[in-house]
Amino acid sequence: MNEGLGPLAGRRIVVGVSGSIAAYKAVSLVRMLGDRGAVVDVAMTAAATRFVGPLTFESLTHRPVLDDVFELDAEQQIAHIELAEAADAIVLAPATANLIGELAAGLVGDAVTAIACASRAPVIVAPAMDAGMWTHPATQRNVATLRDFGYILVEPEVGELASGLTGIGRLAEPPTIVAAVEHLFARAGDLEGLHVVVSAGGTREPLDPVRFIGNRSSGKMGAALAEAARDRGAAVTLIAGVMSVTPPRGVTVIEATTAHAMRESVLRAAPNADILVMAAAVADFAPARASQRKIKRSGDTLQIELVPNPDIVAEVGEMPDEVRPFLIGFAAESNDLEANAAAKLRDKGLDLIVGNVVGGPFDAIGSDENKVTVFAAEGALTDWPMLPKRQVAERLWDLIADRYRHSRGATESTTSPRRRRS
Ligand code: PMT
Repeated sequence: MNEGLGPLAGRRIVVGVSGSIAAYKAVSLVRMLGDRGAVVDVAMTAAATRFVGPLTFESLTHRPVLDDVFELDAEQQIAHIELAEAADAIVLAPATANLIGELAAGLVGDAVTAIACASRAPVIVAPAMDAGMWTHPATQRNVATLRDFGYILVEPEVGELASGLTGIGRLAEPPTIVAAVEHLFARAGDLEGLHVVVSAGGTREPLDPVRFIGNRSSGKMGAALAEAARDRGAAVTLIAGVMSVTPPRGVTVIEATTAHAMRESVLRAAPNADILVMAAAVADFAPARASQRKIKRSGDTLQIELVPNPDIVAEVGEMPDEVRPFLIGFAAESNDLEANAAAKLRDKGLDLIVGNVVGGPFDAIGSDENKVTVFAAEGALTDWPMLPKRQVAERLWDLIADRYRHSRGATESTTSPRRRRS
């Protein structure tokens, strides 16, 4: 990447153009991305080529346009797979209702869908269509599916449409789309040089060789945080309780399925961490004794004595400044979220606490989405809607990176950790 020229310098961006009258705006978009130093490749659907000729894009980018999935490049590579692998980001603009539907269904019929489907790069979608098509339940459902895939949506705007009517559905203006791409890369490396520890999942406190006291935590929230931190350049350690999702690749995973095991792992990792996020649902109590033998059924009631588990995050909160990481806890509450979160923030010595609701219609546990409120000593900092957990994680890292930077002083950046590690 060409340092100092802005977030797009040297980035490989594939612009996928589909068949809409708004395809002409993709010409300005490609020019603007190129002006900012991005290396732009254009892929077109057959319908798009009827609105703008490939030659227009080729003249701007000095690179061949891909409009055929059967195309091979000079080295006889499959061109769309090569582009999919090389891309740092894919921008679908304009994205028609048809393209959005195909992507939501996983249908690969042309160069644009083939690249988007084959690539692991982030995808930005800028829809353009008639207002009726945009508001149709099928389109809205497909858009929601793309959001679930983690695609970033640049909302269509209200204005005059191709039909001559005024309504929602106009392609966002190229500067708006460029800003979304820049935002993506501006934060891409903001955790570089930092060691981030995230705990995820639930603990299981054994009663006997087969039974335990546990909870419904899936680990999705913690895994999303670990994955997002990895993508933003952090070295990530994931302390994994019992999780129903696979931990992300490229992070160091330490398994810790009881509260005591998690305590040991967290206390060992914390002094080497710049930031610790405790998203794990740690059992507050454990059976006083785990029976070595399976407890037999009897006619009598069974009394189980529970003893409190150590409060792990509170122990980290008490560490001396030189080794204490920037500390974020979660508060899982069924009621009085704000008051309970504020008390936990104070009592556990946290820098920030992320409040979320458990039980009821907004249940954070096990679900793919979450509605969180972040609290600091001065009160609530956010008012975010229900979002997919990956998007919650991105917003959390935006906020955490900013607060971390300020806590370490204006002269240091997040890319210069406060302590040198051996
Ligand atoms: O895993 P998912 O299905 O995606 O669900 C996510 C989640 C709801 C579990 C997650 O978002 C969440 O809220 N995690 C914290 C759950 C919890 O234990 O909350 P708490 O309010 O009981 O604990 C407050 C904080 O203290 C938490 O950061 C917790 O990790 C920590 N703690 C709790 C008990 C304990 N003995 N030691 C701790 O360190």
